[in-house]
Amino acid sequence: MSQSSRPAKPLQVIILAAGKGTRMYSSLPKVLHSLAGKPLVQHVIDSARKLDAKDITLVYGHGAEQVKNTITDPQLNWCEQPEQLGTGHAVQQAEQFIDDKSNVLILYGDVPLLSVATLEKLIAAKQDQALALLTAILDNPAGYGRIVRDSNNSIQKIVEEKDATDEIRTIKEINSGVMVVDGNRLKSWLHKIDNNNAQGEYYLTDLIELAVQEGETVNSFIVQDSKQIEGINNKLQLAELEREYQRIQAEKLMTQGVTLRDPARFDLRGQVKTGQDVVIDINVIIDGDCSIGNNVSIGANTVIKNSIIGDNVTILENCIIEQSVIGNACNIGPFARLRPDSELEENAKVGNFVELKKAHIAKGSKVNHLSYIGDTLMGENVNIGAGTITCNYDGANKHVTKIGDNAFIGSNTALVAPIEIGAGATIGAGSTLSKDAEPEKLTFTRAPQKIINGWKRPVKCKK
Ligand code: UD1
Ligand code: CA
Repeated sequence: MSQSSRPAKPLQVIILAAGKGTRMYSSLPKVLHSLAGKPLVQHVIDSARKLDAKDITLVYGHGAEQVKNTITDPQLNWCEQPEQLGTGHAVQQAEQFIDDKSNVLILYGDVPLLSVATLEKLIAAKQDQALALLTAILDNPAGYGRIVRDSNNSIQKIVEEKDATDEIRTIKEINSGVMVVDGNRLKSWLHKIDNNNAQGEYYLTDLIELAVQEGETVNSFIVQDSKQIEGINNKLQLAELEREYQRIQAEKLMTQGVTLRDPARFDLRGQVKTGQDVVIDINVIIDGDCSIGNNVSIGANTVIKNSIIGDNVTILENCIIEQSVIGNACNIGPFARLRPDSELEENAKVGNFVELKKAHIAKGSKVNHLSYIGDTLMGENVNIGAGTITCNYDGANKHVTKIGDNAFIGSNTALVAPIEIGAGATIGAGSTLSKDAEPEKLTFTRAPQKIINGWKRPVKCKK
C-alpha cells in the first residue's frame, strides 16, 4: 500500500506497555523480554517509526525504572500509568499528547510482529471515518475480545471474553486491540468509558459502542496472517514468535540468494547485507549490523556480531567474530575468536584456538594455531608460530606489539609489550622477548640444552 493512499492527517502513535506480564514469571518487565536480541517494545517502536509518525507516546508502568533505562530513544513521549486499570485507562494517561486533528494509532508493547504494511492498510481503511479496527478471524478465538457485527456487517461493539454470552463466544472475528482513531473523538470518548464490567477495568474497546451510539461507522481491516497480532504473555509464546520472526528473516535471505543449510537453525538478531553465493551452515547467529561479501562460506556454530566480511572468505566451524573487519580471501577457524577491533587484510589466515583482540593483521599473514594476539600491529606475510602470545598487559596498562613485514615468530614465543619486531626478523622458538628484535636477524632467548651422561630414570620401589 502506498503512502499516498493514507489520509493526509498527521499520525500519532500511542504504545501501551504498562502491563505486568505476570505469566512471564520474571523480574524483567514483559515488554523488555527480547525477541531476536531486541526488547519486544523496541520492535513496536521501530515499526511505528517507519510509519513517519509525528510522535510516539509510550505508556509505561510496571518496571518503570527498568523500562526507562533500557529504552533510551530520545524522541519518545513518556507517560506513566502507575496503576494498571485497563487499556482505556492507559490511553487516558496519554491524553495530554493527543492532538485533535491527528489520527491516533494505538499499539501494544507486547505485540512485536505487526508489520508496517498491515498498519498502513489499517490506516488506509479508516478513510474518512472516526475510527478503524484491526481484526482477525481465528479458529480458536478464546481469550480475545469478539467483534459483534449487525446484519449489514457493520461493527456494533466489542465484547470481552469475560463479559461475553455463550453465543458471542462463538464469534471467530476477534479484536487485535490495534486501532486508529480521530484525536478529538478519542479524547471525548475516553472521558465516557467506565469500569462497569467483569474485570472492573476501563476498557478501550468500549470506544466502539460509544462511536456507534453517536452514529459513526466503524471501519476495519482484517489481517490474514494472525501471527502478526499475537501478543506475548508467556515464555512459550515468546519462543513461538521468535521462531516466526526468524522464519520470516530466513525466507527473506534465501529469496535474496543466500544458502541456508537449515533455515530453522539460523538466527539473525539485527541486520545483514549479503552478497552472492553466501553459504551459511547450521546454528549460525548473526547479530547487530553485519555485512557479508560475495562467495563467503560460514561454518556451523559460528557467531558474527557487528562485523564486515569481505569477498571469498571462508569461516570454518565454531568461530566467534565480534566488531571486526575481515578482508577478501581470508580464512578463519575453526575455533577462532576475533574480539573487537580486529582487522584482517586480504589473504590473512587465523586458525584454530587463536584469540585476537585489537589486532591489525596485514595481507597474507598467518596466525595458524593456539595464539593470543592483542593490541598488535602486524605487517604483511608474517608467520606466527603455534603458541605465540603477545603479553600486552602488565597488570595496569595495555601495551602495543609491532611486528614488521615478513617476520617469522617461532613457536611458543612470548612477546612482552611494548615491543617491536623488525621486518624480516626471525625469532627462535620458545623465546621470551622483552626488547625489540632487529630486522632481518635471528633473535632468541633460550636456555642451553644439556646432556647428563649416565643418568637413569627412577624405577618404582618394590614393597
Ligand atoms: C485486550 C482487548 C481485547 C483484545 C486483546 C488483544 C481491551 C479491554 N481488551 O485484551 O479486546 O482482544 O487485547 O490482545 O482492551 N495495558 C496497559 N495498561 C493497562 C492494561 C493493559 O498498558 O492498564 C497494556 C498491556 O501491557 C498490554 C496491552 O495493554 O500490552 C493489552 O492489555 P491486556 O491486559 O493484555 O489486554 P487483554 O485483556 O488481553
Ligand atoms: Ca492479555
